[in-house]
Amino acid sequence: MTLEDDLRTVVGDQHVLVDPGLTASYETDWTRRFSGRARCVVRPGSTGEVAGVLRACGVAGVAVVPQGGNTGLVGGGVPVDGEVVLSTLRLVEIGEVDVVAGQVTVGAGTTVSSLQKRVRPLGLDFGVDFAARDSATIGGLVATNAGGENVLRYGGTRQQVIGVEAVLADGSVVSRLEALPKDNTGYDLTGLMSGSEGTLAVLTAVRVRLWPAYTKRSVALLALDSTSAALAVLAALRSRLTTLESAEFFLADGLALVCEHTGLPAPIPGEHPAYLLVECAATQDPNEELLEALGEVSELVDGIADIVVGEDGPSRERLWRYREAHTESISAAGVPVKLDVAIPHAHLEAALAALPEVVRGVDPGARTIIFGHLNEGNLHVNVLPGGAGVVKTDEPHEGYAVTDAVLRYVVGVGGSISAEHGIGRAKSEWLTLARSAAEVAAMRAIKDAFDPHGLLNPGVVLPVADGPGGGPSPSIDG
Ligand code: MLT
Ligand code: ZN
Repeated sequence: MTLEDDLRTVVGDQHVLVDPGLTASYETDWTRRFSGRARCVVRPGSTGEVAGVLRACGVAGVAVVPQGGNTGLVGGGVPVDGEVVLSTLRLVEIGEVDVVAGQVTVGAGTTVSSLQKRVRPLGLDFGVDFAARDSATIGGLVATNAGGENVLRYGGTRQQVIGVEAVLADGSVVSRLEALPKDNTGYDLTGLMSGSEGTLAVLTAVRVRLWPAYTKRSVALLALDSTSAALAVLAALRSRLTTLESAEFFLADGLALVCEHTGLPAPIPGEHPAYLLVECAATQDPNEELLEALGEVSELVDGIADIVVGEDGPSRERLWRYREAHTESISAAGVPVKLDVAIPHAHLEAALAALPEVVRGVDPGARTIIFGHLNEGNLHVNVLPGGAGVVKTDEPHEGYAVTDAVLRYVVGVGGSISAEHGIGRAKSEWLTLARSAAEVAAMRAIKDAFDPHGLLNPGVVLPVADGPGGGPSPSIDG
C-alpha cells in the first residue's frame, strides 16, 4: 500500500489529487513567488479525516503542508518538494449563531465572505476583513493571525478567536470550542495556535467572536502633503470619532499603478505624496459626524490638499477600490517581493523616504511600492525586482538581498519584520533578527513538543535545522 492508497482509504478516491492538472493551483501561491511540487493534495471532509491523514503521513514520514484559501503571502501554505498538501476547503460547516453571546463556530475552510453572509442578516459581523475575503479562510486567518483593514477598531484575528479545534501531528484532537468568554484553565492553547502558521497543528474549526453589524458607513479619502500630515489627521480623527473603523494609506506611485491597471481616473485631481482613506461605521449614519470632524481637523492640521467623501454604497466602494486594488495592480506589473513590516509611527516618514533607497542599494532597477494600515504603522513594502526576476549569482535565492536589506533597516528603527502576514518560509531565515536566542529556543521547544518528528510545515516560521522539529524523519513508527 502506498501513502496515496492509505489517504484514499481515509478521505475517498476523489479527494486525493495526484494529476498535475488538478494539483497545480495548490502548488503555487497567490504571488507566484513561492512554488513547489506536492506529492499529492488531500482534501479531508471532517476532523476525523484530518486525523487519519496526519496519522498516515506520520507513518510514511512525509511532511504535510496545511492550506486554506492559498491567499497567504509568505510561502507558508505551498509545498517545497514532495510534501502532502492538506487542503481545508471542505471544512465549511457553519454552526448555529449564538446571537446572545455573539459567537459562532465555523469550519476552518469557511471563507471570510461566507461568514459575513451568514451573520450579517442577524445584525452581527466578523471583526477581520480585507480584499481577499472571498478566498481567505477563517482557519488560514487564525493560522497566520491575519490583520486587515479593521484592526484599529477590533484588533487582529487572535482577538476574534474564542476557541479552536485542531488535530495535532500524532492525530490526536484538541477541542476548545466551548462558548465561555471566561475560561482560565491552564495554558492558552487557542492563543498559541493563533499565528502558529500550520507548524503546531491543523486547525479544523474555530469559534469566533462576533460584533454588532454597523450598516451605516461613510468613507473619506484625503490627499496630503506627507505621511506625517496623514498621522496628524489620524490622531485628530481618532480622538473625535468613536465610529472610526479603518485608516489606510497609499502613496502617489501606488495610486498611479492602480489607475493604470484598473483604468480608474485619479480620485482627486493632481498628484499628491500621500493619501489617507478613513471609514466610519455605526448604526446611525456617521456621515455628518465624519464631515464635522474633517472640518475641525482641516483647521488644525497643515498639509491637507483635498478631501473627497463617499456617502452612498457605490461611491464608498469606488474609494476603497483605490486602496484594495494595490495588491492585484502590483502583481499585474510583475512578481513582487512582498515585505509586510511594522514601523514605529515616529520613524514612519523617514522610513517611507529611506526604504526605496535601501532597496535600490541592492537592486538599482527595482520599483518599491508601499501602502498599508496607518494606525498600526503597518507598511506593505512591495518590491518589483529590476532584474526581471533573474536570480543574482551572489544571492542564496531570489529576493534574498532585498529582503535582508529591508528587514535589517526595519529592525534598526525598532520595527517588526512581520506585522500581519506571518513569517512563513519567506522570512524564517530572518527570525533571529527579530527574536532573541532565548525566544527562538522556546519556540523550537514548543514546536518539538507538539510535532516531535517535524511533520507539519517544516521550514515555516523556524528555519529548517538539524534535530527534532527541523524536518520529517524518513520513517516514523506507527
Ligand atoms: C493588504 O493589506 O491589502 C494585504 O495585506 C495584502 C497585501 O499586502 O498585498
Ligand atoms: Zn495588509
